[in-house]
Amino acid sequence: MLARAGRYALPAVSETRRLELERALLEHRALFLRRFGGDGPVRLWFSPGRVNLMGAHLDYNGGPVMPTAIDRGTFLALRPRSDGRIQLASTLELGELELEAGDLPLQPARRWWDYPVGVLRELSAHSGRLGRPVAGFDLLFGGNLPVGAGLSSSASICVGTALALSETWGLCLPRLELVAERGFVGVQCGIMDPYAVGLARAGSLLWLDCKDGSNAWMPLDPELHTIAVADTLVRRELAQSAFNERVRQCAQAFAELAPHQPGATCLRDIRLETLEARRGELDPLLARRAEHVLREVARTFAARDALLRGDLAGFGAQMTRAHASLRTLFDVSVPELDTLVDAAVGCEGVLGARLTGAGFGGCVVVLLRRGAEPELLARVQNAFGARFGRAPTVEFFGGDEGPREFRP
Ligand code: GLA
Repeated sequence: MLARAGRYALPAVSETRRLELERALLEHRALFLRRFGGDGPVRLWFSPGRVNLMGAHLDYNGGPVMPTAIDRGTFLALRPRSDGRIQLASTLELGELELEAGDLPLQPARRWWDYPVGVLRELSAHSGRLGRPVAGFDLLFGGNLPVGAGLSSSASICVGTALALSETWGLCLPRLELVAERGFVGVQCGIMDPYAVGLARAGSLLWLDCKDGSNAWMPLDPELHTIAVADTLVRRELAQSAFNERVRQCAQAFAELAPHQPGATCLRDIRLETLEARRGELDPLLARRAEHVLREVARTFAARDALLRGDLAGFGAQMTRAHASLRTLFDVSVPELDTLVDAAVGCEGVLGARLTGAGFGGCVVVLLRRGAEPELLARVQNAFGARFGRAPTVEFFGGDEGPREFRP
């Protein structure tokens, strides 16, 4: 029912974009050689980031989400070593990790390498189960995805690492198994991000039902529409703990409502009428969190139906409503994000706008008709500049076909 791909052409990544990526990856290989020296072939991979258009804070509540991969992401350059040592370095972050393949850290170090080390632990265990000792390697990370902006640089790194190691070690893991090791770094995130990256397909939104993992690709015609991402450049130190707090609040709301909803296994299963009937018994804060989740589930289904009807304006309207709910019921917006959304939705040709990722700063995603780009740019820059005295970064992203090895 969802795969109405025949109505649209599914485009590959544009030629210009492909050439830019090729150039960037070759430069990344040169940086690898400068850092690690030596000889022997260096393999290169690209792994995209993502934006989420619908289903805000639903993944850890078992709800549906609609993300799409973007043509910015992580670059990985890897060369095996014969001495069992592993060296991880990054062109974007300070500090390097050097260790023995057989001696992986048990605890996170609260450094950038916690993400790849988490994956390394998972894949080493997998490799061990296959009776293969883990071999050493040098690995340089880099890329063109802003870190901490809500574009899931962490899932991009994790899925990219999983793919690179799976291919280097001959594990041949299917894409679905390349999902990130998430527990290691202490963020209680849901499953959306690794799926959005790992199952990406160009020209499509991913429909993912986080309760049962069922998924489908939903075409979004890139000839007619485009996605802009406006970055507030606000990065909150407290974002991770505030995110974990939302996860806990939703779990608590579910624990209190579940006895009144037979068969419910997650917050998404609670009916809005049940919440309304029990509202008086719930802490008002928990009731607002649950209300966001339940209404966002309904909005995400409505957005999917609109997309299937070819009603992009209807889809965009749900995005904008989602933002209002994130602001007033879920309390994860900030004035910088609200200013960008308000400026964007007042612009001719804009179909919808909302914060993407967890919130507390980061980016707004805007769905717009092609041709509306200059006006959008002028409006958001003026409104943001007038209020905050500086410019946001606004970029127009293309889609991406997912993590892959690059063979020049
Ligand atoms: C973060 C998390 C995701 C998801 C979003 C909110 O980006 O990593 O798993 O929960 O927030 O929709």
